[in-house]
Amino acid sequence: MNKTCLITGATDGIGKQTALVLAQKGFSLVLVGRSAEKGNLVVSELISATGNESIHFHCADLSNMKSIQQLSVEIKQNYSAIDILINNAGAYVSKLTMTDEGFEKTFALNHLAYFHFTELLLEMVKEDIPGRIINVASMAHKNAKIDFNNLQMENEYKGWTAYSRSKLMNIMFTYECHRRYSDTGVSFNCLHPGFVKSKFGDNNKGFAKTSISLAKTIFAINLVKGAKTSIYLASSKDVDGVSGKYFDKCKVATSSKVSYIQEDQKKLWEATDQIIKKTYVLG
Ligand SMILES: NC(=O)c1ccc[n+]([C@@H]2O[C@H](COP(=O)([O-])OP(=O)(O)OC[C@H]3O[C@@H](n4cnc5c(N)ncnc54)[C@H](OP(=O)(O)O)[C@@H]3O)[C@@H](O)[C@H]2O)c1
Repeated sequence: MNKTCLITGATDGIGKQTALVLAQKGFSLVLVGRSAEKGNLVVSELISATGNESIHFHCADLSNMKSIQQLSVEIKQNYSAIDILINNAGAYVSKLTMTDEGFEKTFALNHLAYFHFTELLLEMVKEDIPGRIINVASMAHKNAKIDFNNLQMENEYKGWTAYSRSKLMNIMFTYECHRRYSDTGVSFNCLHPGFVKSKFGDNNKGFAKTSISLAKTIFAINLVKGAKTSIYLASSKDVDGVSGKYFDKCKVATSSKVSYIQEDQKKLWEATDQIIKKTYVLG
């Protein structure tokens, strides 16, 4: 039977390109994005480009934990197993923006969503092992440090610092998942896709948007190259049994020194878990 791969943020950029190639390879795909209109168009586009009809779309705002909870119910009702989960949806948000649930948006979308969706889908991924969970991180994490007293930076928000920290969190989360769950038959890896000419940064205004656009025009690689490591981690036999690693250009790479501090990985896990639990209590 074909493997089923769920990709978040699959309506554009790296996620959409990853979906295209995995559809060509015959995977069954479950795509997630925040716009039903855009999602349905992407499904039609991918089906006509590849002839693979096993492509479905589900709509959710991944910066909202209630929306993630509803999404996971929908996924469990519609599919018997998810073999591969790619947590890919993410954004750089230059100005402090709070979600309806009171979270800083970068933290909510780039970190809380990876954590919560993984937690909710893990049982399904374990249904039919070996399973793979892949977190799209970034080299932007390299100079980041987490401030456990100010995880969401509400009082002194700097967009790039918040983004880099969220990508460091993706890596620390991957390593902690590996330690907690790799004996379940599910592997956990994360990656840097490269600096990619996607829609990344376009959600901002003014200098933040213009500077990223200019940098993309000059330095960025195209989507075909930018999706390669995600596709490799989802589909290659080379990574059977490989877990708890950070990849760059389809090779194991070294992440920043602070990302390997196990005590902090555990601390981040516990702090995040507490935050997520509160979203249930608040109803
Ligand atoms: N581009 C780069 O240079 C680069 C470098 C390193 C790491 N990354 C990482 O790569 C990942 C993908 O980014 P990209 O470059 O492909 O960006 P992109 O072109 O902006 O695509 C982002 C995708 O995420 C979706 N998304 C955004 N907010 C969402 C929300 N609240 N709920 C659900 N879906 C949402 C977008 O939906 P819409 O189609 O509705 O906008 C889109 O499908 C991110 O995690 C990013 O941090 C990118």
